Amino acid sequence: MSSPLETALARLDELGGISDSPSYLVRTFLSPANLLAAEKILQWMADLGMETSHAADGTVRGILVGSNPTAPPLLLGSHFDTVIDAGKFDGALGIIAALAALESLHEEKITLPFPVHVLAFSDEEGTRFQTTYLGSRSITAPLDLETLNAPDAAGITIAQAIACEGWHSVATAIRYDPGECRGYVELHIEQGRVLEEADQPACVVSSIAGQSRLTVTLTGRADHAGTTPMPLRRDALTGAAQCILAAEILAESHPPLVITVGKIQIHPGASNSIPQSATFTIDLRHPVDSDRREFLGHLHETFIHIATQRSLELQWIPIQDNNATPCDPALTARLQTSLAAVTGSRLTLASGAGHDGVVISKVCPIAMLFIRCRDGLSHHPDEFASPEDIGTGIEILTHFLKSCPS
Ligand code: GLV
Ligand code: MN
Ligand code: MN
Repeated sequence: MSSPLETALARLDELGGISDSPSYLVRTFLSPANLLAAEKILQWMADLGMETSHAADGTVRGILVGSNPTAPPLLLGSHFDTVIDAGKFDGALGIIAALAALESLHEEKITLPFPVHVLAFSDEEGTRFQTTYLGSRSITAPLDLETLNAPDAAGITIAQAIACEGWHSVATAIRYDPGECRGYVELHIEQGRVLEEADQPACVVSSIAGQSRLTVTLTGRADHAGTTPMPLRRDALTGAAQCILAAEILAESHPPLVITVGKIQIHPGASNSIPQSATFTIDLRHPVDSDRREFLGHLHETFIHIATQRSLELQWIPIQDNNATPCDPALTARLQTSLAAVTGSRLTLASGAGHDGVVISKVCPIAMLFIRCRDGLSHHPDEFASPEDIGTGIEILTHFLKSCPS
């Protein structure tokens, strides 16, 4: 029989092989691979003797009731959607490690005095709709109308995607009210280089950085590439290029501000037509919310200036604005005690990446455990966490579960 760690490593490979592309790993909200991954995770939960359910949006849940089914539950979990050409650890590891910790307790014949709910979210990255945290947002409150009407690149809204592509057969709403749960704990790869530099396998997280995401469209006029003199052009793409470089200069001159343009589409997109429109994404992050907003305002003014100079129309569409979210000090201190018991370290780190805890903190205390990843690399197929460090993470989580008060 394989150990919980061996099972976890095999599951990481298995989930990493479920993709919408034959060439790289990608599983976006409600895609065929996203739903296949959801079914696979549900099966693992059922194998552990959990009560399983899923929501129409593909988020799945396994419940281990423990010896006191009416005690406030502890939530564990992470997301199983991915970015495009992803690594297999971001998100998936948190779900698989949670199951491995419960398997370890099972092997030790330990029954917890409270229910544990393992949650696996169908969207955290926001790759398809640019809206982060769809899965965890749905478990805290119904999605608002504006979010439901957000379109993907093909013009399909979130509401339409859930209605037409969702997992409706025997679906149940998964929802939590404030105060209902004792906490949410997520294990995740660090996605940065601090643990590697500190020569530590793991740390706890003090807070999750805020982020703004938006879509920008510049509109000019399509015209003939061979006959339109340069001064007469209203080229949306060269305008976008100027905006994107201005964003880079702004971020480079104001660390720790980071700005990313990860996606751009142009219309009509022909080699002999001047681009009529260019639509691109902006992801802007800063650990201090007031600074993030100030830089966002500055960027908007710069784009207005560039658009005006080039006789382009500018559409500036905010998609998401999340404040920095502190992890709960008491829950984090308990997780840190388990970290220290297993590794001897009490290292704490602020997360620059976004995580579902941002949303779940609206209904219960949150804490996070980071695991070292090679070269700090993430959102890349070479993303890697060693089996030893994953084993350490599972051990810390198991220690934490055992030491939770009833
Ligand atoms: C999630 O990976 C994010 O921080 O964008
Ligand atoms: Mn993640
Ligand atoms: Mn990610």
